[in-house]
Amino acid sequence: MKILVIGNGGREHAIAWKVSLSENVEKVYCAPGNGGMAIENKCENVALDTTPKLLEFAKKENIDLTIVGPEVKLVEGIVDVFKENGLKIFGPGKAAAQLEGSKSFSKDFMKKYGVKTAAYEVFQDVELAKKYAKDAEYPLVVKADGLAAGKGVVICSSYSEAESALNEFMVDDVFKGSGKTVVLEEFLDGVEASILSITDGNVIIPFISAKDHKQIFDNDEGPNTGGMGAIAPNPYCTPEVLKEFDEKILMPTLEGIKKENMDYCGIIFFGIMITKKGTYLLEYNVRMGDPETQAVLPLLISDFTEIILSAIDGKLKDIKIQWKKEAACCLVLASGGYPLKYETGREIKIKNNKSKVFAAGAIEDKGVLKTSGGRVLALVNTAKTLDEAIKATYNDVKNVEFDNMYFRKDIGTLYK
Ligand code: AMP
Ligand code: GLY
Repeated sequence: MKILVIGNGGREHAIAWKVSLSENVEKVYCAPGNGGMAIENKCENVALDTTPKLLEFAKKENIDLTIVGPEVKLVEGIVDVFKENGLKIFGPGKAAAQLEGSKSFSKDFMKKYGVKTAAYEVFQDVELAKKYAKDAEYPLVVKADGLAAGKGVVICSSYSEAESALNEFMVDDVFKGSGKTVVLEEFLDGVEASILSITDGNVIIPFISAKDHKQIFDNDEGPNTGGMGAIAPNPYCTPEVLKEFDEKILMPTLEGIKKENMDYCGIIFFGIMITKKGTYLLEYNVRMGDPETQAVLPLLISDFTEIILSAIDGKLKDIKIQWKKEAACCLVLASGGYPLKYETGREIKIKNNKSKVFAAGAIEDKGVLKTSGGRVLALVNTAKTLDEAIKATYNDVKNVEFDNMYFRKDIGTLYK
């Protein structure tokens, strides 16, 4: 089989690596890929990014399966285009991708199908939104409706903060259309978990739970990033939490997908909040998480390519997904200054490394690996216990070197 993986992050490196391990896979093209994917066994980067170019390539090379990493392409509708051309592609169609592409759409879907989620109101008129915010309880969560590269959520502790966020989103239009509609939402106090799952539209199977570490600094301080590390399974996901997740979130979601006749064969990522009042759904993502994927996939025993093909053939009901009875730790090594200003083009040296390395903001330049982004690499280890996985990962940091390397020292520490 020839597979095409679309994307260039750590998540896509992990996906390309995992599918490359299948015996039936002969070649994995990565579009555009990164410096780590370039040297992964069976993998080759191709410098393509637009949907028409990807389609042309997939047809010309007789690609057997395309896997889409990032949400933007899914929301744009790449799946519909590939399917219309008779190509196999893994991911939801454009209409179903609105579960991530529009927060008002996804909240209305949750409400309609009884998925447990925070109370909310949707506004298109800034004055009405401000009026509602004036009388609301604080903290209040202000969310831009559309995609905003992870920057569209503000937790406001007072009306004046909410007013500024509403002005930025709705009047100044900082997200170029994505914030013209807003969702104002009840604040939930608790701990977060990420649960990826796979569905073929009839059956949904959750993966091992994971925990992201979003803030840049230790003790969960500082601004949010794309994720500074992850562990799996998530220690807060007790059997009770998972039972409630199954009954109040997972199953009602599947019910909604069926009833709405959604074209959904792909990954659904549930971002949940575990609170004293129970477990709530914060959001859906219609793709795998980054860096959750880098922690979760190394724990998968079953053949990932076969699982994806079963989903595409509508045969998920026939398979059982097996996981290692171990824990994983993924540590992101970033360029100093990220998520604000940082330098790129620095040489990366890796020696005597024992961890699995997934590249993100790293490119190959004339045979030399160089930094090209904020989150540069991730080191991942699995072990019998989480402590061992954490220790093995941190032990390996000394084997990676680039100027101004920054990483959190506390991945895996639980604060609540
Ligand atoms: P979202 O894009 O909806 O997942 O929001 C991004 C982040 O904002 C989440 O991962 C949470 O940390 C936080 N967040 C979103 N909604 C809420 C809420 N209702 N209560 C508390 N925190 C929230
Ligand atoms: N780690 C969060 C996300 O991928 O959205």
